[in-house]
Amino acid sequence: MNDAGADAPGGGAGHHAGEGSSGPHRRRERYRGTHPRNFSERYKELGAAPDSEIHAHIRAQGRTPAGTHRPVMVDEVLAALKPQGGHVVADCTLGFGGHAELLLSRIGPGGRLLGLDIDETTISATQARLTALGFGELLAVRRSNFAGLAKFIGEPLWSGERAAVEGFNLIFADLGVSSMQIDNPQRGFSYKHDGPLDMRMDQRIRRTAAEWLAKLSEAELIETLREFGDEPAAEAIAGRIVLRRQRAPLRTTRDLVRCVEEAVGARGAGGRSVEASPDDEAVERTKRESHPATRTFQALRMLVNDEMGALAAFLRGLPFVLRAGGRAAILTFHSGEAKMVARALEVGIAQGVYAAISEEGIAPTAAEVRDNPRSRSARLWWAVKQ
Ligand SMILES: C[S@@+](CC[C@H](N)C(=O)[O-])C[C@H]1O[C@@H](n2cnc3c(N)ncnc32)[C@H](O)[C@@H]1O
Repeated sequence: MNDAGADAPGGGAGHHAGEGSSGPHRRRERYRGTHPRNFSERYKELGAAPDSEIHAHIRAQGRTPAGTHRPVMVDEVLAALKPQGGHVVADCTLGFGGHAELLLSRIGPGGRLLGLDIDETTISATQARLTALGFGELLAVRRSNFAGLAKFIGEPLWSGERAAVEGFNLIFADLGVSSMQIDNPQRGFSYKHDGPLDMRMDQRIRRTAAEWLAKLSEAELIETLREFGDEPAAEAIAGRIVLRRQRAPLRTTRDLVRCVEEAVGARGAGGRSVEASPDDEAVERTKRESHPATRTFQALRMLVNDEMGALAAFLRGLPFVLRAGGRAAILTFHSGEAKMVARALEVGIAQGVYAAISEEGIAPTAAEVRDNPRSRSARLWWAVKQ
């Protein structure tokens, strides 16, 4: 998922310290900002169960409860992968485990699922959630980049006789960031929340977004914004960033948003590119709702996390980790990703590596885009190994 801040979750004003207290009169602490001060103040649904009323209420408004992630295009993913009892599955982007949960419920009791994610904070919470749902036996979770999926072949991942895998029947990747990552201001992924310009999905990555912004030349900034963000105002934004950092380094998401706004106007450059979708009205609406900093945030995030490099390595290795007749499904959210996946599948079928592939990226239904705006740029690609 590449939308750096669409569809803010939660909602409702935060409550302030001192409010509602009884006893001797105390001066109410003044809240000076226009927004709730911290994440938990803003998102009251944090800690509530996914089936709670508050979550249902937020979803009914087309938003995603904070601390959760709504899996995208689930019917289409299941139709592409066709999970069956006994299948050995790799979910390369475990996230909240939404897709993994659906796959796990279809492969048991003889199946197994390896869940990978590079985000340490995601891994343990999702493993606990899926184990509490009764999938612990089927599940192995590793903190790893999916570029290295092949290293798990032959590794003892599960206990007992089912220990090692010789290859996967199903491989799934849902690229980009999760709603939990976007919504947490401390991660710096979203223009919507002020926070440190970090953007690392994996804390072991050496350079944060702020460090990249301090280091890149103006030409490199322009190239990054164009290549990873399809940003038409790349030159103006890069110029503004360079001017700004001569005064002081960019440290926060707000610093970056300001540069973009100064370069293109607060609602200037229009929205992100949304490819053809079955519902023009929904597309127009989502375009209108996009913030001019969306593309800049996406581009920087892709750079910080070397997302195209990881995808290229994953696609190269895919034929070697899929079993004969095995199926792969990949959800892309960006034109560069989509092109790279389409090309790899075309080359694979031309070389006889794949028996069948999706002819083009499958778009979400208009109903899903309306219900979950974060799905709007999703495209699903699939392949069946020869
Ligand atoms: C869009 S979310 C996946 C959501 C998941 N399908 C669900 O339903 O909850 C993408 C996840 O993949 C992880 N991720 C991104 N790039 C990765 C990579 N190269 N290797 C492993 N995990 C990655 C992110 O940390 C994030 O948690």
